Amino acid sequence: MKLKITILAGDGIGPEVTHEAVNILRTVAEFGQHDFTFTEALLGGVSITATGTPIPQATIDACLASDAVFLGAVGDNKFNALPPHERPEAGILQIRQHLGGFANLRPSVAYPALAENSPLRAEITEGVDILFIRELLGGLYFGAPRWWNKETNEAINTMRYTRDEVVRVARIAFELAGKRKKKVTSVDKANVLEVSQLWRATVTEVAKDYPEITLEHQLVDSMAMHLMNTPRSFDVVLTENLFGDILSDESGVITGSLGMLPSATIGGKVNLYEPVHGSAPDIAGTGKANPLGAILTAALLLRHSAGLEAEATAVESAVFHVLAAGHRTADIARGTTAQHHVVTTSQMGKLVHEALAHILDRRQAMHAV
Ligand code: IPM
Ligand code: MN
Repeated sequence: MKLKITILAGDGIGPEVTHEAVNILRTVAEFGQHDFTFTEALLGGVSITATGTPIPQATIDACLASDAVFLGAVGDNKFNALPPHERPEAGILQIRQHLGGFANLRPSVAYPALAENSPLRAEITEGVDILFIRELLGGLYFGAPRWWNKETNEAINTMRYTRDEVVRVARIAFELAGKRKKKVTSVDKANVLEVSQLWRATVTEVAKDYPEITLEHQLVDSMAMHLMNTPRSFDVVLTENLFGDILSDESGVITGSLGMLPSATIGGKVNLYEPVHGSAPDIAGTGKANPLGAILTAALLLRHSAGLEAEATAVESAVFHVLAAGHRTADIARGTTAQHHVVTTSQMGKLVHEALAHILDRRQAMHAV
């Protein structure tokens, strides 16, 4: 298997967690004798500093010429005063547009070993396995007009969707639900917004092609509550761009930390992989960053871009084992007992590497007999 991967490590903890994720991909490549190549390119604050823009043309070209793009995190307080289109985050939004992936998959899985780490009771989080599907190229993030008039003190953003944009992401949700618990919860604000009424009508129509899937609709405000009360009742959660941004961070409460959440964006020219968390400039360089979100993102890359399902599962099992053995980065060390062991970013990466090598070794031995 040959795969050209462009790495956009970005800002803050981005490079630290990306380093660990790339190590895991290298481990998989070595074991399976796959030919993975990694090319680094600039995006975000590091790019503004080096080139004056959050996303240079060379980065766009490199990403479009690759089989998959891995993004660490972008954002730096230094640039807070800049208008949105000049900020590091503009780099992410533009690369998403160039790559064209509209379905952002954000799995949220409650690891039993981390049950104590969630402020929710274990009986609430036990067995939670939600797949958020966040529409990534529409809504308020990209709708026009958008401006801030500093003379009149007025600002505007536009939440806009077309039927086709809803159809294509809804199809992905129903297809993926078919391989899971066969339930789609579509989240909107149809009691107030026309754009949500279009969303709801369209999702209802698409559902007719998938009679084996149960569809329910939820309003985003009550969904925010249900997600904390009865998270186990959800399977695939389909929603628009901003609602998905907010609800996926909220689901970090279930898993115990935002640092645990991976994402994959599919449906476009080149898939884009990024952990859900941000650049966390406050802990950059301290060894406190949790690389597991990035490592689980690498697993999604193996699954969705390399077709290496067994290897993707092996990476996920390795994470499971390391957590079960009591190893914790600072963000997941709540309720830490004597059996738990707080480790740094690179130590956590190494532990997952060792667990993965063990799993892959055992597998190879099994195939040899
Ligand atoms: C995310 C982030 C981004 C978003 C930012 C950094 C532009 O919060 O991936 O969830 O809002 O999409
Ligand atoms: Mn976000």
